[in-house]
Amino acid sequence: MKTRVLPFNDDAIAEAAELILAGEPVAVPTETVYGLAGDATNARAVARIYDAKGRPSFNPLIVHVSDLRAAELLGAFDARARALAKEHWPGPLTLVVPLNEAAPIAALVTAGLSSVALRAPAHPAMQALLRAVGRPLAAPSANASGSISPTRAGHVLKSLVGRIPLIIDAGRTDRGIESTIVAATGGALRLLRRGPIQIDAVESAAAAIEAPGQLASHYAPSKPLRLNADRAERREYLIGFGAVTGDATLSASGDLVEAASRLFDLLHEADASDREAIAVAPVPDNGLGAAINDRLRRAAHP
Ligand code: TXA
Ligand code: MG
Repeated sequence: MKTRVLPFNDDAIAEAAELILAGEPVAVPTETVYGLAGDATNARAVARIYDAKGRPSFNPLIVHVSDLRAAELLGAFDARARALAKEHWPGPLTLVVPLNEAAPIAALVTAGLSSVALRAPAHPAMQALLRAVGRPLAAPSANASGSISPTRAGHVLKSLVGRIPLIIDAGRTDRGIESTIVAATGGALRLLRRGPIQIDAVESAAAAIEAPGQLASHYAPSKPLRLNADRAERREYLIGFGAVTGDATLSASGDLVEAASRLFDLLHEADASDREAIAVAPVPDNGLGAAINDRLRRAAHP
């Protein structure tokens, strides 16, 4: 794939929006770091983000929206979360709130969790892209897994050349570090990641509870999960892949991007079924398969 770099202007944003609506990831500056943005309502588009980054595991991603109104369509804000959003948005603050049940967010975005990380960024390029696409955008930092966060288009190019179709270049980002993350999922506010915005009330409460950057919980089904199954035992719900057909399949054709896009939906479906246990067919460990297997192992041994 050829990676183009276009300076930030209306034409570049129109092209970026077209690519995103077609399910492709596009690198775009925010005020913190460059993000790799994809349609948060399209599971395959989200799987393409992971594929491009070569991330060995599925961490939940931040969903970018234009403002608090758009955010409240997706997540449930209590009084404190709303006050923080009003004070700091648009800006480098991410709020983790309970996911609204009807929100059209792909399960891969939240890695199956019932909470969602939301941020209204201030950068005009990301704001313009959000308006042009008209959908929430999932965006992790636009670097290959294991390399440092990009603050210039050149950093993104070096890291992801050949893996994404387009980079919007608006020069150096001004904050240079990722957004502050605060969880407002009930009870006290908790600081999940330190960043450009200091919130004193949260800071002191959080330090004792949770180390910054640490993820509070991972989705795991409530039923026993067996890996590398080529057929279902009695009372098992079999999630297939490739030649192993099951009650449902991650991808009949063995396509890892499709498999990633269906992973959390099928785990939830299997968990909600009338069977007592879940079995999953072997998934090859290359490319996105490594992330799928990482997540399956955690689900099997929560
Ligand atoms: O500044 C930023 O935040 C940049 C720009 C592009 O907006 N984005 C960014 O995304 O840093 P990422 O994917 O590299 O970091 C997302 C962080 C992860 O540490 C993840 O664990 C946390 O957000 N996160 C996302 N959803 C969460 C949830 N539901 N609960 C707890 N943590 C969550
Ligand atoms: Mg990152």
